[in-house]
Amino acid sequence: MKKTFFLLTFLFTTLCLLISIHAQEDMVEIDNSVFETPQRPAAIFKHDSHNEKAGLEDCALCHHVYDEKGNLSEGQSSEDSKCADCHAIKASGSKPGLMKAFHLNCKGCHLAKKAGPILCGECHKNKDK
Ligand code: HEC
Ligand code: HEC
Ligand code: HEC
Ligand code: HEC
Repeated sequence: MKKTFFLLTFLFTTLCLLISIHAQEDMVEIDNSVFETPQRPAAIFKHDSHNEKAGLEDCALCHHVYDEKGNLSEGQSSEDSKCADCHAIKASGSKPGLMKAFHLNCKGCHLAKKAGPILCGECHKNKDK
């Protein structure tokens, strides 16, 4: 009886641990499900380790907020929204469409800093291989 109880407790604890580890798993790629028929594998982006390595502390570098006049709102950030919440597939006015928004943001900084991938296959990596 005692043994069974111990075993059950042990199994339960292990299960909880596995679930909590899984929940804390960091983002490893950008969700491409908003694109109807993605032509490329989802882009690699290990959110936390990427930003640590690149020394990016200001969330608004990517999670930005603009006012009605199209000026960046200093000190505000939008990490509670997906890029697709504001950027539709098609561009509207001076607001780039979703694919362009990603490419300008990601590649733009990599080019400016001369660091980070700029070739298609470096971001859109085939994970099967
Ligand atoms: C280099 C760009 C970049 C920086 C800097 C950045 N993020 Fe993100 N973050 C992203 C992208 C891209 C996504 C995915 C958005 C999407 O799928 O539309 C994301 C998603 C998220 C999510 C969604 C949750 C998840 O894991 O799926 C949270 C929360 C978040 N970021 C918080 C932050 C915070 C807090 C900071 C500042 C400490 C920050 N981010 C800095 C690019 C960045
Ligand atoms: C709360 C709404 C909102 C969210 C969320 C948002 N954007 Fe934007 N973004 C805008 C608006 C509005 C503009 C247009 C500003 C203008 O009129 O010039 C813009 C402009 C841009 C531009 C062109 C100007 C620039 O800053 O280089 C890029 C690139 C861009 N967004 C990328 C992204 C990416 C990548 C994400 C997700 C990490 C994102 N945006 C999330 C509203 C948003
Ligand atoms: C504000 C600047 C900036 C933005 C925005 C940015 N990156 Fe980077 N990224 C860097 C820098 C700097 C490096 C090189 C870091 C190093 O020294 O290894 C890098 C490296 C990378 C790497 C190489 C592996 C790694 O994780 O270090 C990948 C993949 C990458 N970026 C993907 C992306 C994607 C996808 C986006 C857009 C969602 C993005 N980056 C947006 C600055 C940026
Ligand atoms: C710095 C990283 C990066 C580079 C380099 C890059 N992309 Fe992307 N691309 C992204 C991100 C992030 C998205 C948004 C969603 C996703 O695919 O994960 C995206 C989206 C796309 C999409 C729309 C979604 C789809 O799969 O249909 C296409 C098409 C695309 N990229 C093609 C290209 C081509 C072609 C090149 C080379 C000329 C390229 N990309 C280079 C990061 C990158």
